[in-house]
Amino acid sequence: MRISVIGCGYLGAVHAAAMAELGHEVVGIDVDPGKIAALTRGEAPFFEPGLPELLQAHVATGRLRFSTDMAEAAGSTIHFIAVGTPQVRGGTAADLTFVDSAIDSLLPYTNPGDVIAGKSTVPVGTATRLAEKMGDSGAVIAWNPEFLREGWAVKDSLTPDRLVFGLPPEPTDATTAEAALREAYAPVLALDTPLIVTDFATAELVKVSANAFLATKISFINAMAEIAEVTGADVVQLAEAIGHDDRIGKRFLGAGVGFGGGCLPKDIRAFTARAEELGRAESVAFLKEVDAINLRRRQRVVDHVIDALDGEPHGKVVAVLGLAFKPHSDDVRDSPALDVAVRLKGLGADVRVTDPAAIENARARHPQLDYRESFEDTVTDAEVVVLVTEWDEYRHLDPAVVLPLVARPQIVDARNSYDPARWRAAGWTYRGLGRR
Ligand code: UDX
Repeated sequence: MRISVIGCGYLGAVHAAAMAELGHEVVGIDVDPGKIAALTRGEAPFFEPGLPELLQAHVATGRLRFSTDMAEAAGSTIHFIAVGTPQVRGGTAADLTFVDSAIDSLLPYTNPGDVIAGKSTVPVGTATRLAEKMGDSGAVIAWNPEFLREGWAVKDSLTPDRLVFGLPPEPTDATTAEAALREAYAPVLALDTPLIVTDFATAELVKVSANAFLATKISFINAMAEIAEVTGADVVQLAEAIGHDDRIGKRFLGAGVGFGGGCLPKDIRAFTARAEELGRAESVAFLKEVDAINLRRRQRVVDHVIDALDGEPHGKVVAVLGLAFKPHSDDVRDSPALDVAVRLKGLGADVRVTDPAAIENARARHPQLDYRESFEDTVTDAEVVVLVTEWDEYRHLDPAVVLPLVARPQIVDARNSYDPARWRAAGWTYRGLGRR
């Protein structure tokens, strides 16, 4: 099948490579010449495990191509829209500029019967609006949300836990769209992957409600951490105990500095903004609290550090481990780690930061921070070490080995990744979030 993928960021580049891996002939199109040049060389423009291998394999055979020229989309049966929908500047809604301009520039190159499948996360109602905009072009629109997690994006694309096809209301168009999507995902469907065939609104809502649910789960356990902090309870044991109940489950009950990244924070805000437009603000009013709990946890980490510095951060060396919003990613969008580092720097601390993958992205946003390539260099002479992104190399630190490097053995474990007893036994002062 000939496929085009419009937008080659985290979502589109992985989707294009995955479609080539599934056997299709794919062209990825993006307006950023630097990104296209890297992808054409078989290089991933961002950190994503497994992606370079897929790119190299399929760029080499010619089955996967990249271009800045939208005309290259002509001749594809299905065009996936995978552009970003960031938060609007100065507001909370989703910015749909890139989606609209992708459709506008794609339409002249479509043929009647082509399917345009939106993958971007959009406010409910967007597909209907875009269908109207497409007028009598003869192309058919569908919504096919993506659930990939950064760091696991290749696996999530090749073996997703479900597929969702949001089809147009007109039966002939729906048949055309469903047939094209079934063909594109045939190898995935052959693995008995659950498929939900539905309407536009449901497909759009599946994505935002999934992310809203995940964000709520994390903020729920972080709210329990706040209560644990004033009662002497331990939120890690609490999460384990409630997680044994299958109805609750253990995943996404990791209390700590909270969620960040390019999806969860902006998706819950955009969902709230859309619900307000729909006159249903009260239905998702709790998401504002979810957001507020999440942001409070960042300040809690800062407060722990200030406390460890006896209330006087000025000029004190603080080592921050991690900059990416989570491990296995170089993404610093809305990163709790970067936020904590910037706040501590703003309070006058001598903040030294490191990360295995995200230094360059962090430096581009916050050149004022003191970036260190090596872990040893970062922690040497520190009065407090703060673990904010739980990369494996930080999770597996030996407290006895780190101890001689630092000025004062104080650790703030913003991800509750360490065994407090082990660090205390090695001579450290340990502070977690919601832990004894
Ligand atoms: C998320 C969704 O998981 C994915 O399905 C969707 O397609 C895009 O948004 P992603 O942003 O890659 O994916 O990250 P995810 O792994 O969900 O983590 C989000 C944030 O929550 C991270 O900052 C992570 O550190 C934090 N988190 C996660 C917690 O604080 N506690 C947890 O228990 C789990």
